[in-house]
Amino acid sequence: MGPSLPMAEMLASRLGRPVHWTATTGSTNDDARRLAEAGAPSGTLVVADAQAAGRGRLGRAWYSPPGQNLYLSLVLRPGTRPEDTPLLCLAAGLGVAEALDLRVKWPNDVVDSSDRKVAGLLAEAEIQGLSVRYVVVGVGINVNQPSFPPEIPTAASLAMIRGSALDRWEILARVVPAMEARLTQVEDRRETVLAQWRQRSATLGRRVRAGGREGLALGLREDGALLLGLDGGAVEAILAGDVEPAPLR
Ligand code: BTN
Repeated sequence: MGPSLPMAEMLASRLGRPVHWTATTGSTNDDARRLAEAGAPSGTLVVADAQAAGRGRLGRAWYSPPGQNLYLSLVLRPGTRPEDTPLLCLAAGLGVAEALDLRVKWPNDVVDSSDRKVAGLLAEAEIQGLSVRYVVVGVGINVNQPSFPPEIPTAASLAMIRGSALDRWEILARVVPAMEARLTQVEDRRETVLAQWRQRSATLGRRVRAGGREGLALGLREDGALLLGLDGGAVEAILAGDVEPAPLR
């Protein structure tokens, strides 16, 4: 297990130093948390070939077979406020989408032009009082998985989209610096991150169901909340949950 290419690009940056490679683990997010608790520096990257207990958002499992996809987690010690954690995850997702030439779906998915999910992100912050001790950003990217079970018809891999297998390490070497570029803007160039996220969004401008409501996805608020225009004219900020296309009326 390990990269077959020199990852000069990735290693030249701050994120991805050091790298911990593992063959099979439970969850790279758990590994990254353990390393963070033991004092690992910001930028520490954990990559696994397979996960036995990969986690997704909202308590879901993240299917993580060996030899096909990318499962990675970054330890960040960002110096941002606890309430900025959703924005960090949006920024990281934007970086992933930019590196793969895909789109972002609120809150933390990366999708293709047919809205099929190619990657998902899960940020877990360790908060102490009013400050962030560390944040672990986990990313699962479907790279070479040939197909998905019928229960998840809205998933796809990069190989399914492009029609041929891709080198996972090349993808990793592209994705990590792209995430870094956006993550470093969260503190002092937040407007740029928000503007670029809006531009690359597969969510805004559509009628959706989110947070138990239905309406028009109007915008992305400063803190990363989704602004939903309800039918009566009110605008509601959705802070967490899933977004699905609203059924046709
Ligand atoms: C989601 O879309 O629900 C988020 C999925 C996040 C999956 C990644 S795989 C690497 C890291 N380790 C985990 O256990 N989860 C994240």
